[in-house]
Amino acid sequence: MSTHTTAQAALPNKVKLVEVGPRDGLQNEKQFVGADIKIELIERLARAGFQNVEAASFVSPKWVPQMATSAEVMAKIERRPGTIYSALTPNIQGFDAALAAHAGEVVIFGSASEAFSQKNINCSIAESIARFEPVAKAAKANRLRLRASVSCAFGCPYQGDVPLDAVADVVARMRDLGCDEIDIADTIGVATPRQTQTVMLRAAAAFKIDGIAGHFHDTYGQALANIYASLEVGVQIFHASVSGLGGCPYAKGATGNVATEDVVYMLNGLGIETGIDLDLLVDAGMFISEQLGRKGASRAGNALAAKRAG
Ligand code: HMG
Ligand code: MG
Repeated sequence: MSTHTTAQAALPNKVKLVEVGPRDGLQNEKQFVGADIKIELIERLARAGFQNVEAASFVSPKWVPQMATSAEVMAKIERRPGTIYSALTPNIQGFDAALAAHAGEVVIFGSASEAFSQKNINCSIAESIARFEPVAKAAKANRLRLRASVSCAFGCPYQGDVPLDAVADVVARMRDLGCDEIDIADTIGVATPRQTQTVMLRAAAAFKIDGIAGHFHDTYGQALANIYASLEVGVQIFHASVSGLGGCPYAKGATGNVATEDVVYMLNGLGIETGIDLDLLVDAGMFISEQLGRKGASRAGNALAAKRAG
């Protein structure tokens, strides 16, 4: 029998968490969620300490009806100094709306999968990059932060495997558009930890590692392990959704993002600073779960709530 030891990889001391529940989470809700509920959720999340909350999506209301209140939400939220409120902008029409709504960061969203690009934004990858070019230029001209999301970087609900070269190619195109941050997204939550490291390292060959974000959905229960695996290769930005809200309307069966409460609990245990107040985050999770009329999907959130009730 052989034994082997592995050197413990140095983990970052500090991580930036982007709370995507109000957008990625709520966009997938079947029941209508009113602007007042979204506003309270966003304000609660900002108070819990997030530097970045994905608050809106300026897409076609015919495609994603739940996001049709984005302008109202952005107009009415009380803004916390130091918090960046991001908005998805698939094209220049979306950008103009985001600019008018005073978004602090605009998010172009492409895909490493041709099939998903067609289903999600109704164009090929190459066409999407052409649509993003004027958005990127306008973002720079208006001094807005520019973030890009690369969907289906670990697998696609329509085409299955996604080649590493396709991920690297889209990351390089997004870099060339001048992005400040690039999200490597597991849209359908199929990735496993070794694969995660391979994909992250490949993305990091094309873009600065401190600008790469891990966006993991938790469909197969792998998201926390994938975050840990990403930390081991130097990723320092992660997306998460309070109470594990969400899914993608164009990725059937995909569940929500990893629950933010679970991520904060894990990072606290690892001694990694996030700046998030876990108690206030649990409150926000309880608030939105109550509004949606169901138990939250965060294991840590539910455990901490039960302990309080205790
Ligand atoms: P299209 O039909 O090809 O666009 O849709 P079009 O330019 O031909 O316009 C058609 C109609 O849409 C027109 O209206 C436009 O005005 C309107 P009509 O004349 O028919 O009344 N339109 C818009 N309305 C509002 N805002 C806009 C806008 N653009 C056009 N910005 C389009 C193309 C991209 C608009 C459409 O496919 C769309 O809205 N897709 C949204 C898909 C989406 O939001 N998916 C979920 C978010 S992505 C995601 O969740 C993944 C992520 O979390 C990472 C991950 O997990 O992978 C980010
Ligand atoms: Mg997503």
